[in-house]
Amino acid sequence: MVEVVESVRGRVGELVLRRDGHAYEVIENGVFLMDTRNGESERLLVTGALTPGASVLIGGLGVGFSLRAALDAGAASVVVVEREPAVIAWNREGPLRTVHGDALADPRVRLVETDLVPWLASTSDRFDALCLDVDNGPEWTVTESNAALYSDAGLARLAELLNPGGVLAVWSAGAAPEFATRLRTHFASVREVPVEVPRGEPDVLWFARNQRSRRTPPGATCSAAESSARLPGRAPRARRSTSRTP
Ligand SMILES: C[S@@+](CC[C@H](N)C(=O)[O-])C[C@H]1O[C@@H](n2cnc3c(N)ncnc32)[C@H](O)[C@@H]1O
Repeated sequence: MVEVVESVRGRVGELVLRRDGHAYEVIENGVFLMDTRNGESERLLVTGALTPGASVLIGGLGVGFSLRAALDAGAASVVVVEREPAVIAWNREGPLRTVHGDALADPRVRLVETDLVPWLASTSDRFDALCLDVDNGPEWTVTESNAALYSDAGLARLAELLNPGGVLAVWSAGAAPEFATRLRTHFASVREVPVEVPRGEPDVLWFARNQRSRRTPPGATCSAAESSARLPGRAPRARRSTSRTP
């Protein structure tokens, strides 16, 4: 039985935390944002982008799968930008805390409660990996204002925020051909990695590098990311399989 744990007025509309058996679901304005059933592609988004010791930005806390993966992969520091106070509370002291083993309490983590779009425009921080998972994809944003992230100006700014050899990683619930073309005009090397799911179109991750890393030999690809992405046996995930609550 599905149970509403909490329903609040968020920054951009109604936010609901639901429990379905052992799984939690976060729903915003009737659209699934995230659930705790799988998280494979959300983890791969960061493990495919960072190397141990990296400084990492994660755009969108969700249920903390990406954050946990960054810490487990040896990130030196992680800035998480999340605009919804309720999402933060559910992760910090609510039922989502156990999903990631209280990752927000890790001393490497700095949580910034704000909108990612203006924050990126004004920050003086620089990162080795920028991991963006705030939307259902570059061509299916949860709010109109998020579309700025994937525009020419947005991509140029993201490239500026990367240290040499750094990687921009972007999550999507499906293909986004116009975005992929645009991305290639801003970054020297772009890998597109489909992540198979049991039902529907694969998730898609992009890993875009602004310059070659000294750690990456010429011609090397995101092979770890690609091989992980082909692993079979993913559980269904709400963002793709169910776009609207019943
Ligand atoms: C799909 S969830 C992220 C899932 C996350 N990767 C994980 O592992 O659980 C998207 C998150 O981004 C947040 N978000 C959406 N737009 C945002 C914005 N403009 N600024 C900051 N956070 C945003 C949502 O509130 C939500 O928590």
